[in-house]
Amino acid sequence: MEFNPFAPEVKQNPYPYYAHLRNHSPVYWVESLQAWAVSRYEDVAYIAKNTQLFSSAPIIPAILGELNPVPEVKWLISTDPPAHMPLRKLVNKAFTPRMVAALEPRIKQIAAQLLEGVEQGADFDLVRDFSTPLPMMVIAEMLGVDSERYRDFKRWSDDLMRMTGGAVAPTELERLRASVADLSRYFAQVIEERRRNPKEDLITALVRAEEESQALSAREVLAMCLLLLIAGNETTTNLLGNTVVTLLSHPPEIAKVRAELSLVPQMIEEMLRYLSPVQAIFRLATTDTEIAGSTIPAGSKVLILYGSANRDERQFPDPDTFDLARNPQDHLGFGFGIHYCLGAPLARLEARVAMDALLSRFPHLQRRDHQPLEWVDSFVIRGPKTLPLEIRRG
Ligand code: HEM
Repeated sequence: MEFNPFAPEVKQNPYPYYAHLRNHSPVYWVESLQAWAVSRYEDVAYIAKNTQLFSSAPIIPAILGELNPVPEVKWLISTDPPAHMPLRKLVNKAFTPRMVAALEPRIKQIAAQLLEGVEQGADFDLVRDFSTPLPMMVIAEMLGVDSERYRDFKRWSDDLMRMTGGAVAPTELERLRASVADLSRYFAQVIEERRRNPKEDLITALVRAEEESQALSAREVLAMCLLLLIAGNETTTNLLGNTVVTLLSHPPEIAKVRAELSLVPQMIEEMLRYLSPVQAIFRLATTDTEIAGSTIPAGSKVLILYGSANRDERQFPDPDTFDLARNPQDHLGFGFGIHYCLGAPLARLEARVAMDALLSRFPHLQRRDHQPLEWVDSFVIRGPKTLPLEIRRG
């Protein structure tokens, strides 16, 4: 069997391929990526944990490539110890469960506002009309930029993400570069503005960190803003899309959750395992290291398959079953180790509020068409591109 993450049949459903890898080639050379794919839970967790052996340096180059507007600075997600922790501390405060809990009323308002206009028989697309704008508007407000500009944000952040899908034509690269330059200019303006007029928002906090401790350079403030856009939007959008897709194909489960909305948080944990929005991420081997009996040579790229680890039968009994009662505490949907998702408390809150709002407003939800789903064009991220729904209120 060949595992090529760009092949259409792998994109449509990578899970049988992952299972084959886990059972036959737990360390597999992916020609199309020039990287070693690692697929078992134990090995993925080991690599994520051992930052001296496996560096995160290739992540931002892999995601942004030539589009990176600030290639010379340290991006949190791509930084190894000892530089990682001081950088993470600067943003941690804003994302603790306590800080995030304070956002709940506002997130509820945004969710209600987005669903307000949706009417029976209307052309409602969950991805376009709900799961995309929701996290965009939340992060825009946290950063302190005008949430009404979320459509620009969406375009910008799509353009930033374009590189992960594979080859980009030279003509398109020009357009993407211009778009990222616009976004950087926009943030640079807001950063300057907050320097003059501080507010109670995340950009002000980052600017303050820059001024007070010289902990961050102005370009690092920009990188942090861009990272929060990249890391927090598409991922949350896909978690919501995946949740609705899965519930609609599991009628007994959706009935249980509807009857008992307090099950939503554990349903979300099982979703993060069962259909992980982040399927894979890169590392770089710093030293020759033996993994599952194979030696990964120093200097090689490694693709750790979180999506596969989360379906590893060695860790999760009956892994291909979506089981509401499972409530897994050990899934790798948010990663593992020092780079464990900064936004996990926020993503969990957004997903809970969004699913509560959706399920309690619309007692009947079904897909409007029965075409095979089209998935987002990336082996890093998994979720439906669009999800037209038919809704009926009570
Ligand atoms: C369901 C939604 C989300 C998923 C599935 C997700 C997943 C992940 C994963 C797997 C990692 C680890 C990457 C690695 O191992 O290198 C990560 C890191 C990160 N995530 Fe999330 N994420 C989500 C939402 C968010 C949100 C809402 C934010 C912020 C607004 C965010 C910000 C970050 C940041 C900054 C990092 C890097 C942390 C570090 O390097 O210390 N994420 N995320």
